[in-house]
Amino acid sequence: MPVDIDAAVIANRRLSADYNVLSLAAPEIAATARPGQFVMIKTSGGQDPLLRRPFSIFEVLRDDSGAPIGVSIFNKRVGAGTTLLSRVEAGTRLALLGPLGRPFEPVDPPAEAWMVAGGVGLAPFVTLAEALASRGTRATLFYGARRAEELYCVELFDALGVSVVLSTEDGSAGVRGRVTVPLSAALEQRPLGNPVKLYVCGPTPMMHACAQLANAHGRACDVSLEQVMGCGLGGCYSCVVQARGADAGKPHHTRTCIDGPVFDARRIVWETIAAHH
Ligand SMILES: Cc1cc2nc3c(=O)[nH]c(=O)nc-3n(C[C@H](O)[C@H](O)[C@H](O)COP(=O)(O)OP(=O)(O)OC[C@H]3O[C@@H](n4cnc5c(N)ncnc54)[C@H](O)[C@@H]3O)c2cc1C
Ligand code: FES
Repeated sequence: MPVDIDAAVIANRRLSADYNVLSLAAPEIAATARPGQFVMIKTSGGQDPLLRRPFSIFEVLRDDSGAPIGVSIFNKRVGAGTTLLSRVEAGTRLALLGPLGRPFEPVDPPAEAWMVAGGVGLAPFVTLAEALASRGTRATLFYGARRAEELYCVELFDALGVSVVLSTEDGSAGVRGRVTVPLSAALEQRPLGNPVKLYVCGPTPMMHACAQLANAHGRACDVSLEQVMGCGLGGCYSCVVQARGADAGKPHHTRTCIDGPVFDARRIVWETIAAHH
């Protein structure tokens, strides 16, 4: 069950003008969070913005004995709420609701996991990488951004034994081109008998492209959608997308906050999703 707490900011680590990692004291949320789940944060103490904003749980924070003490979020500044979260100082208290949403299901060996992240879409993968490492599943991260300076926190994945494949649109780090360039090459090279599951998070067109690649190569693919959300609890319908049922039947309106944000990519009617990026 999600809890609603008044969480103190432990630290706010600035990564660049647009990105920061915000650590919040929330032992109750940290203790039950599963990979790919999210929290709803009230970004200001006042009326503006009124609604909470959704953020993936980036890291589960632990004390020296390993006990969960809080969560961090990987914040990208795009508007009013995320700008407030980029500036917030240690000691400030923020209303925090979570953990919410359907988590990723990590695959077991001999299957491998390929995580595919575009930009801020890196956020749900640290917790997934931890879950994969704990079950001994080989994991690869395909991580793409526009340029080298926009690739962050790769060391967290290195420390978990994840193979990291970087790409940048301007060629300043890793493979030149979009993240689909190295992903497509890797899919081509992989023998069909070796099971692999894709986990994708990023801009909607990027997730759509990855879903098409996975489909063309007959690989399982989960996506984590980032629709605008008003409540995170199923009450406001601001987050609906068209999705087919598990039986691949007729599409229907599905609330991404409670049925997702993680979906089997084949269920999504991509053409009906408004791209925010
Ligand atoms: C499940 C989930 C997990 C998310 N995880 C993260 C995360 O880990 N880190 C992070 O930085 N962001 C994450 N987001 C996106 C984040 O919630 C939005 O960027 C945020 O709500 C924008 O609030 P704002 O007040 O700053 O912007 P607003 O003032 O509300 O909007 C400013 C601009 O951003 C656009 N925008 C609003 N919502 C989104 C969105 N969901 N995606 C893309 N553009 C949007 C608007 O269309 C507008 O152009 C997540 C979203 C969801 C649904
Ligand atoms: S965010 Fe309100 S119903 Fe999904």
